[in-house]
Amino acid sequence: MINNRKTAIIGCGFVGASTAFSLMHQGLFSELVLIDVNEEKAKGEAMDLSHGRPYVDTSKIYAGTYDDVADCGLIIITAGANQKPDETRLDLVHKNVSIFKSIIPEITKRNSEGILLVVANPVDILTYVTLKLSGFPKNRVFGSGTVLDSARFQYLLSEHLEVDSGSIQAFIIGEHGDSELAVWSDTNVSGIGINEFCEMRGHFDHEKSMKRIFDDVRNSAYEIIEKKGATYYGVAIAVSHIAESIIRNKNSILPVSSLLSGEYGLSDLCLSVPTIVNKNGAEQVIEIDLNSKESNLLNKSAGQLKEILSSLDL
Ligand code: LAC
Repeated sequence: MINNRKTAIIGCGFVGASTAFSLMHQGLFSELVLIDVNEEKAKGEAMDLSHGRPYVDTSKIYAGTYDDVADCGLIIITAGANQKPDETRLDLVHKNVSIFKSIIPEITKRNSEGILLVVANPVDILTYVTLKLSGFPKNRVFGSGTVLDSARFQYLLSEHLEVDSGSIQAFIIGEHGDSELAVWSDTNVSGIGINEFCEMRGHFDHEKSMKRIFDDVRNSAYEIIEKKGATYYGVAIAVSHIAESIIRNKNSILPVSSLLSGEYGLSDLCLSVPTIVNKNGAEQVIEIDLNSKESNLLNKSAGQLKEILSSLDL
């Protein structure tokens, strides 16, 4: 019997442990199971987090094994190598695909009804690999995608415009990586088009500002990795935001990475576009209007991902 208030985090590295810490503060789950190939690490993280429970009304947190995923409503997969300063996310593909080929069967042997949320990179490739290896329906296998990139985009716009980021709609779509794109044509502040709002705030050099802001979004991870060796807090909060839409059945529209089946003219690959996320997972891909430049960039991003997929033995 699936317990929708029980989640497992596979991988207790920086991202997995930070995700557990973030989920713990949300109080969404009754049980949080930490699983790692290094069992002592999982036990250490579970112990450390559990000591905060008296002050945070939250889940039972413990280190477990794959047997503990059997009744999990949500399984978050962060396990895998992470980017080194001179690596792209796509450079991780062969290492992490082979890790996933060992992880996913361990999950599906025990659980056939849960939602699999992929976080490890390259997330779009690994989401597709998880979909194929698990045989689960496409709504129950999706990735964190560009939810974090879109948060970065909203944040940088809010700083530039000195307006609350909650009033900004701004999507980054495509690959969670170098070929991602900003949907400027749909970006607005409380329904006011971005260029019009920029001028209301005294900014008139639109092209220069748009380039600076988008470059900063796309290069954020590289800059953070250069400074502190890895990124983990931002993605952990993004994963918690996705988990909340699932557990609270919020129907949030989030740019998660899921299988496209003709939407945007694309099929048989996973990448991020606005999608309704609720208790059923990635329930419906939403086709927003893209201008010709954005549509071309999305096709280019899809082409790069498809090239990688075609090189894999799945
Ligand atoms: C980043 C990692 C999660 O963008 O890919 O920070």
